[in-house]
Amino acid sequence: MENIRIAVLCSGGGTNLQAILDAKAAGNLPDGEIVLVVADSEAAYALERAKRQGIPAAVFDKHVYSRAAREQAILAALGEKKIGLVVLAGFMTVLSADFVKAYEGRIVNIHPALLPSFGGVGMYGLHVHEAVLAAGVKVTGATVHYVTEVCDGGPIIAQKAVEVREGDTPETLQRRVMREAEWIIYPQAIEQVCKKLKGE
Ligand code: GRF
Repeated sequence: MENIRIAVLCSGGGTNLQAILDAKAAGNLPDGEIVLVVADSEAAYALERAKRQGIPAAVFDKHVYSRAAREQAILAALGEKKIGLVVLAGFMTVLSADFVKAYEGRIVNIHPALLPSFGGVGMYGLHVHEAVLAAGVKVTGATVHYVTEVCDGGPIIAQKAVEVREGDTPETLQRRVMREAEWIIYPQAIEQVCKKLKGE
């Protein structure tokens, strides 16, 4: 059985993309191949990371394409590359039900909190960590989950807890959650899913 062909969809810095690329380079993603990076902004630093690694990238800029046209273009690009797994890594567009249906069971996302807490519409980026600090919880973390039409609501694949410390700001907490949870569990969960998909 061939390795699962992965597309990573990003909007920003792409540190999770980097963690996935590093895992592949280190031999920790034996059942998947990263064959495409998609960005919805020309400014996404993720594009630079893809270029450095020699991975083809496609940009469907938010300012050029409407949401519907962007989705159609992305679907076409995924089809062309025979993508078997769509990995959302800081992709700031909520996918439509039609898109999700086209790749049912084959789209994963990472969320920077322990779902089902601190998830849903509006809970992205620093907003998540601000909400965690405002709630006063002492433990947060990251969650990898399948994507369904319910925002942040799909079946959970992996989670890792991270301590909230006295004096944390949203920024320090975001960094700790990335370093101690996201960059570790995302490549691992992707490998787990690829292995499972290969067996189907
Ligand atoms: C991460 O915190 C991820 O959990 C969330 O968006 C952020 C993306 O960061 N979905 P990066 O682009 O991978 O650096």
